[in-house]
Amino acid sequence: MKKLIVVLVFFLFSGSLFAQDSNNEEKKAFIDNLLSKMTIKEKVGQLRLISVGGDLTLPKVLDQIEAGEIGGIFNTVVEPDLTNMQDRALKSPNKIPLFFGFDIIHGHRTVFPVNLGVASSWDRNVIGKVAEVSADEATSDGLNITWAPMVDITRDPRWGRVSEGFGEDPYLTSEAGRIFVEKMQKQSLDDKKSLVTTVKHFALYGAVEAGREYNSTDMSERKMFQEYLVPYKAAIDAGSRAVMVSLVSVNGIPATANHWLLTEVLRDQWHFNGVVVSDHGAIRELINHGVASDAKDAVRVAIKAGIDISMNDEYFLQFLPELVNEGVLTEEDINKACRHVLELKYDMGLFNDPHRNLDPKLDIDTMFADNRLHREEARDVARRSIVLLKNKNSILPLAKNKKIAVIGPLADSKRDILGSWSGAGRANLAVTPLEGIKNAVKDPKTISYAFGANLSDDSNLYKFLNLYEETTKFDPRPADKMIAEAVAKAKKADVVVLFVGEAEGMAHESSSRTDLSLQASQKRLIKALKATGKPLVIALMNGRPLTVKEEYEQADAMLETWFLGTEGGNAIADVLFGDYNPSAKLPMSFPDNVGQIPVYYSHLNTGRPHGTENMGKYTTSYFDSPNEPLFPFGFGLSYTHFTIDFALSSTEMPQNGEIVVTANVENIGEKEGSQTVQFYLQDITASVSRPVKQLIGFENITLKPHEKGEVKLVIKPDMLKFWNDKMQYVAEPGKFNIYVGSDSTTQDKQTFTLLDK
Ligand code: NOJ
Repeated sequence: MKKLIVVLVFFLFSGSLFAQDSNNEEKKAFIDNLLSKMTIKEKVGQLRLISVGGDLTLPKVLDQIEAGEIGGIFNTVVEPDLTNMQDRALKSPNKIPLFFGFDIIHGHRTVFPVNLGVASSWDRNVIGKVAEVSADEATSDGLNITWAPMVDITRDPRWGRVSEGFGEDPYLTSEAGRIFVEKMQKQSLDDKKSLVTTVKHFALYGAVEAGREYNSTDMSERKMFQEYLVPYKAAIDAGSRAVMVSLVSVNGIPATANHWLLTEVLRDQWHFNGVVVSDHGAIRELINHGVASDAKDAVRVAIKAGIDISMNDEYFLQFLPELVNEGVLTEEDINKACRHVLELKYDMGLFNDPHRNLDPKLDIDTMFADNRLHREEARDVARRSIVLLKNKNSILPLAKNKKIAVIGPLADSKRDILGSWSGAGRANLAVTPLEGIKNAVKDPKTISYAFGANLSDDSNLYKFLNLYEETTKFDPRPADKMIAEAVAKAKKADVVVLFVGEAEGMAHESSSRTDLSLQASQKRLIKALKATGKPLVIALMNGRPLTVKEEYEQADAMLETWFLGTEGGNAIADVLFGDYNPSAKLPMSFPDNVGQIPVYYSHLNTGRPHGTENMGKYTTSYFDSPNEPLFPFGFGLSYTHFTIDFALSSTEMPQNGEIVVTANVENIGEKEGSQTVQFYLQDITASVSRPVKQLIGFENITLKPHEKGEVKLVIKPDMLKFWNDKMQYVAEPGKFNIYVGSDSTTQDKQTFTLLDK
């Protein structure tokens, strides 16, 4: 019987291999044939990703499509327009269909919390839900590729794009990236609901020096491979079929011109076989970077480095055919890139069904209709993304019959709560905190509202925010008057709930800051409200860690609500009134002050650690600041309390063995709640210094009052690997600490030894 099963399994397995091989052969024959019929110009056309706008007017774009000079379109989400474009592509000489892309960063029509918020859930199902719904809505709109997930590790909150990623940690970010790819692309790209992912920004965009947008990065290869490159690799291993290249230079060579990065690492070492897309205008920017003498040279450099597709520039069309004619590039250089694109289109099933998911008759109203939204999912994800930072005297949750003064420049802003990169969302469909709170209480008359203060006094900030369209309104009333109105409302209420932080445009591409504190206008408002003596709940709305020590001290309770998306207001109300017990944890450390940056939990030790035996002057420290962040990575409170203790299945791990860590969790409070158990590793002695702690696993558990439960993590030798002194990826025998707890400061540890056999 056993033999029969083995034989059967062999046939089934080799059968599927055979099917795959014959598929690959068919694909190769199809593409070889196509390439043999295409002119150089048409091949170059496949390498052009274009968005309608500026000089590239719709009629011009349509003509270029019909001439076979465009391979993909992005930034159009109107289905009849897409249908029209596809019809024109099918009239091109070789009838090669277009693909349609869009930035679907944290939701599409339904906007979910910004990813830093989604990462705060530390919940794989929650992350998966965001990706799944996003892909579902985007494909319903006829889109088939997106520029996500963004998995840049971010340890500098001065950088405006930290909100787009999943925070400071390689493991948490890798998990999020992997899940995005799996849930968006699905098992097969020709699934009608499959949305091709483009992992970005390869590489190190999140490590720009001093947090200044588009600045350079410089990092040891060890740190890259050990930390910063890990999430891109995880997303590629999960099957992401596209990669977007970062705009910055990596160790002196712009990523777009970086052969080592795009070819040696990505293709040769990681065996990536999808398409490599440049970022917006990146090829032209090689001239500014000083690695190309002119536009034609920039095109040469980019292709030679390993770029396949250029995003929105004219130069490929202008210069690639010329470069081939002159013998500077070979036709094979172009074929190689073109083949990557055609293979992707083939696998997406576009040659069989170019109009997949396109409805030429859809009108705009239907496309943006409320009934196309996934409100229930959005609300659930949003409430699981809210981090409770303080709750003095258990002032939260609030009773629903309290008189509440809802105050602040962000309390009733529909645009801000969506966050940046929400182009297909509609602000008028979003629920603000004020609306959410009114929806939740029995009598909305118990809720009063005051704007309180402008977001800022700084007219330059308004100019910056409203440069292209007016997104942030300035209230011309005198500041004192607005504060007086807010104070009057506060005095009549039982509790004040205050919404302060950033406008969505402050946490975006090209929104770096050097000062991470709240604006002076908001600080004045807080001081005045504090002086009323009323209990003060501060809800932060922002897209990056802020320096809020003073406000933390002033507040009775504090919530980090990020930009929560379409259902944000309802989700905030769920947490405020205890309909949901907060469970989220910070995915990025909040600095005590800007001078500490970068401050992150997984740093290396020094020869002179601070806060241990060696408490004299000559230890690693500042004389004017603590070393510790205000809120550490992994931190977040609940309306209940948990205890965690843990045990190891053994204190020795053979080379082919494993150790099971069992964490016993008890809810010792009076409310049901969820805890995220975090597992950290420390390699105590190795050939190179290893981080003081490194996240290697996490699990959520929901427990009723006084209920006990357990979660487990299986540690295998592979999880102990790192890049050693010879840049080999190995696990070195010796002692390891395992820390288990509810945030990265946990000191609860046990030790085991990896044996050499
Ligand atoms: C530039 C951004 O850097 C990138 O993240 C985005 O995908 C493209 N623009 C397209 O919008």
